[in-house]
Amino acid sequence: MHKKIGLLIVLISFIASEIFFYNYLSIEINTSRLTQFTYYFSLFLFFGMFGKAVFSDVTEPFKIKSYLGNFLLGFAFTLLVTKLTFVFVALIGESINQLIYFTLESEVENNVQNRTTLIKMIATAISSIPFLSFLYGITKGKYNYKVLNVPVYSSNLPIAFEGYKIVQISDVHAGSFDSKRQVKKGVAIINKQDADLVVFTGDLVNNFSAEVKPFIPIFKAIKAKDGKFSITGNHDYGDYVKWDSEELKRQNFDNLLQYHSEMGFKILMNEHIRITKGEESIAIVGVENWGVAPFPEHGDLKRATKGLTNDEFKLLLSHDPSHWDEEVKNNEMNFDLTMSGHTHGMQFGFDLGKFLKWSPIKYKYKKWAGLYENKGQYLYVNKGFGFLGFPGRVGMWPEITVFELKSK
Ligand SMILES: [Fe+2]
Repeated sequence: MHKKIGLLIVLISFIASEIFFYNYLSIEINTSRLTQFTYYFSLFLFFGMFGKAVFSDVTEPFKIKSYLGNFLLGFAFTLLVTKLTFVFVALIGESINQLIYFTLESEVENNVQNRTTLIKMIATAISSIPFLSFLYGITKGKYNYKVLNVPVYSSNLPIAFEGYKIVQISDVHAGSFDSKRQVKKGVAIINKQDADLVVFTGDLVNNFSAEVKPFIPIFKAIKAKDGKFSITGNHDYGDYVKWDSEELKRQNFDNLLQYHSEMGFKILMNEHIRITKGEESIAIVGVENWGVAPFPEHGDLKRATKGLTNDEFKLLLSHDPSHWDEEVKNNEMNFDLTMSGHTHGMQFGFDLGKFLKWSPIKYKYKKWAGLYENKGQYLYVNKGFGFLGFPGRVGMWPEITVFELKSK
């Protein structure tokens, strides 16, 4: 349902802007065969990709996505954003143009056309910014892995864990990848961090557990001295596709759990483990996906923490950051650090430090990227390792987070 509304909005905005775009630039479009071809090719590409998104049935994939297919989908989206920007700037420009015309009356009448020429140049220059940014995002940006170092200070940290290094990755969405080589590059960066612990905070696949099969050997190569731990995300349950039977859906989920273990990850399904150093230990608690409706609430903190004490240091893995505000931060159990993902930073925006970051996703999720604190408890939201839907990342690069635990 959500997908259909989204596609309808895309279609309406495209048609409206296209009518304006063609009328406004009809002389330029019809200047030569080449400009005509470019214009009609962009239309053909957009409707082709749009039709594919609407009419193609999602079936269990056994092959890695093609690089060209992902590129064409991303390019169609790039053209849409570029045209919308052009139309937006041109509409503002022409409104001002008309205002000047009516204010200054007939003696400047002849300048209307000159101003239109100038507006076209400005609109072209401004819309080239999203064009180039998105072009980068769909080619290089989606694999432009960034290592973010995050020290976390806690008065509750056992001395033996001073300087303990935890690498977090999230939202792999294996079914979207179109290059094993690039994913290997990401794994090599993870291994370079020499982590004590590696955690993965959910959404291994988009819909089908089989998506991750070609990548199992790659993720299996991730190294961590004290182990690799994971949880499920909302995409891991196969809830967004139709199944012929409940049995098939359950089998898909069982396979997913099996693949986690084949990759060397211990998946924490509402449970915890303790990492011990000498006499001291910290607890790693993992819950299944817990989200605000329509996302399901499989996560069960009570079950996951059974046997733990309130005062011991706890790292909680929970896919959806909404969980933290709703259940975690005021929980009777103290969770020193919670790691989440889920938002992807919407794969679009900019992140230039704590006070200089923006993405449209911030209007949906209050906690959407980076570190948040409440009474000595921390939440970290990772922007994800992979991508979903739009096959690219613009400004919100794929992330490998390196935490260093420090005592306060
Ligand atoms: Fe995700």
